[in-house]
Amino acid sequence: MKKTPVVLDCDPGHDDAMAMILAAYNPHIELLGITTVSGNGIIDKVTENALRICALANIRVPVAQGAGTAILGSVEAATDIHGETALDGAPLPAPIFELEKIGGVELIAKLVKEHPEKVTLVATGPLTNIALFLKMYPELKSKVAHIVFMGGSASRGNRTPYAEFNIWMDPEAADVVLKSELPLTMCGLDVTHQALVTKEVFARLEKMGTELSKTVTGLLTFFAKTYDEVFEMPEPPLHDPVAIAVLIDASVTKNRFVNVEIELNGTYTRGATVVDTYNRSGGKPNVTVALDLDAPKFWNMMLEAVEKAGVS
Ligand code: BDR
Ligand code: CA
Repeated sequence: MKKTPVVLDCDPGHDDAMAMILAAYNPHIELLGITTVSGNGIIDKVTENALRICALANIRVPVAQGAGTAILGSVEAATDIHGETALDGAPLPAPIFELEKIGGVELIAKLVKEHPEKVTLVATGPLTNIALFLKMYPELKSKVAHIVFMGGSASRGNRTPYAEFNIWMDPEAADVVLKSELPLTMCGLDVTHQALVTKEVFARLEKMGTELSKTVTGLLTFFAKTYDEVFEMPEPPLHDPVAIAVLIDASVTKNRFVNVEIELNGTYTRGATVVDTYNRSGGKPNVTVALDLDAPKFWNMMLEAVEKAGVS
């Protein structure tokens, strides 16, 4: 089977953890490594979480710690959604292996350089590491097949009225990525708000009955509670794995190829993704924007991965 070689850059995070499991356990993906970026929690916390999820789900790939602040230096954790540890809701095992001795951006460069084929970068946190990689290793750009990111929105935001969290955290980094002229796919709130953790999803997890499915249930129960409190969404959207799912089966989303720019200023709109749905700007299309999700197909992929990881 042809596999897509992927480096996953993430800030675990409940939905990032699920993206790790999907990337590690779907046969269409060759997960080369995991890098962390500050976002849902400060960098030390999300890195520890990445290592703990590797221990929990028996994921054995190199993990390296990336950027601790956005390009312009800010950090603001999403404790209201992900809790104090950035991954509250269930006890997680201690790490079973150590971090790579090199940093996250260097690990991305190493994995991209050493792989015989072009590599796809999937980002499920702020785009800081990806932008730094593009700036620091311009000679490796031709080895990048595709960048898929969870972030942005063609409508409204979730961190501010117009900005989605990952883009809002580091708009300058997102701007670098959107101007890269590489093939880009944006999985924003339009599509991830269709990946809802419903009662049926919880029932399927319960039926699985593995230690892993029980831990996942604990994590997602916490996530559902905070989403209900903050957004009045008792069935929370599992954003990040959608960015892996589009690589497994492109038919899982319906997309439009349009011009997208990042609002870097704006009195109220910094960090907004300006998606030119009706091509009013005349701007060159640069991003494939996922807009509709085949939710049953998505959940079959996601839950199959949890099931497989649970018996590994
Ligand atoms: C994004 O922000 C984070 O809280 C999630 O992990 C996801 O990547 C959703 O806006
Ligand atoms: Ca994330």
